[in-house]
Amino acid sequence: MLHKNTDATSGLEKVLADLEQDYRSRNPRSAEQVARAAQVLPGGSTRTVLHFDPFPLVIAHASGSHVTDLDGHEYADFANDFTAGFYGHSDPLITEALRSAIDSGLSFGGLNLHEEKLAREICTRFDSIDRVRFCNSGTEANLIAIQLARQAMGRSKVLAFKGGYHGSVLSFLGGKSMNCGMDNVVLAEFNAVESVEAAAVGILDDLAAIVVEPMMSSGGGILAETGFLQFLREFSTRHGALLIFDEVQTARMGRGGLQEIFGISPDVTTLGKFLGGGASFGAFGGEAAIMDLLDANREGAIPHGGTFNNNILSMAAGHVGYSKVATPGAIEGANAKASELRRRLTEVAQGADLPIQLGGYGTIISIHFQPNEVRRPSEIRTSAKQRKLVHLELLKRQIYASRRGTINLSLATTGDDIDSYVRAFKEISTLHSGFLRNT
Ligand SMILES: Cc1ncc(COP(=O)(O)O)c(C=O)c1O
Repeated sequence: MLHKNTDATSGLEKVLADLEQDYRSRNPRSAEQVARAAQVLPGGSTRTVLHFDPFPLVIAHASGSHVTDLDGHEYADFANDFTAGFYGHSDPLITEALRSAIDSGLSFGGLNLHEEKLAREICTRFDSIDRVRFCNSGTEANLIAIQLARQAMGRSKVLAFKGGYHGSVLSFLGGKSMNCGMDNVVLAEFNAVESVEAAAVGILDDLAAIVVEPMMSSGGGILAETGFLQFLREFSTRHGALLIFDEVQTARMGRGGLQEIFGISPDVTTLGKFLGGGASFGAFGGEAAIMDLLDANREGAIPHGGTFNNNILSMAAGHVGYSKVATPGAIEGANAKASELRRRLTEVAQGADLPIQLGGYGTIISIHFQPNEVRRPSEIRTSAKQRKLVHLELLKRQIYASRRGTINLSLATTGDDIDSYVRAFKEISTLHSGFLRNT
């Protein structure tokens, strides 16, 4: 048995070495550019998630549902900027909004006409949001939402989840992090009521907030169970803590985010990624009683600054994108397209006798090669080498995908793109079912 495993491992090593060699020979200009960038940027990059070995591709341009790298290969984009690219590349309405915003001037240092429109669209679509504030990233949205909860409740502790990701300084994925404020954070297991109860013992009187992704994103596309979210809603109310839903990725899943689909209202919601229409963006919103603590007309208001909070590009592109492109109808259409893709991937895997679990929800699909359902990150069986194998094989077939194995569709993804993905997936599953099978 040991002998057989060793053979399989060395077989996989050999396949990976060949794929890596092939990747290097196809991408000399990306390799050269990454090496040049490494002289001035650590590892040649300024965003760790974009790194993969042997070196990441440098993208020269993008249009519609495709990206083109520096060596001239055009790919169907299934990474879509880790969900931020939900509008596809250069949607015409958003491009027009950006052009006209540029023509009317940038950095006003004053209020502008776009911010109220985007805020109104968000408040209309999310039942739990009476008022919203903008910031510059999902990370910032979560940091501020947590601080707001602490000030609003006069408490200090926060309960979050193992495998959760709320930004690079609020990352509970395990391993090294640049987290801040960990002295006041306790972690529980996702989808496990008893674990939340156990983690909260001894801090209930000081618990300011529970922060949770209704679908764990970086943690592996793991959807929360309805009963679990209902429990968190009831538990936080009972103990006088705020419930924060991080919908930075999941806002795209329904008219008013994933919370509308679950039928559960948090006290505060954090937003980001696609909602800025392709420009830097973050937001947090909730009921008036909490958000109005930031109302500068009030005595003792909590100040919330940020030079670019209402930057013209994010506000204008965000408003047009959310009101005219990611309409409830368009979201429904994209979810239907994703369901069809899920059906086809399942069929392909069954044909190759390859057990898979398709996590995520709607247009975010996380592929796990295993027979058992994934309820929390510790149950994921796919190894880093298996991820690398699939990733390099997809790139070879001109499918741009993330190393972590998540498919993010965009509103621009076409039927032809989906056919290409399914074709590539079928070839890879047939070729490598032995290497990809986990039990
Ligand atoms: C669920 C979730 N929250 C927060 C963030 C952080 O957003 P940003 O990268 O814009 O800071 C991310 C980014 O991946 C995310 O997926």
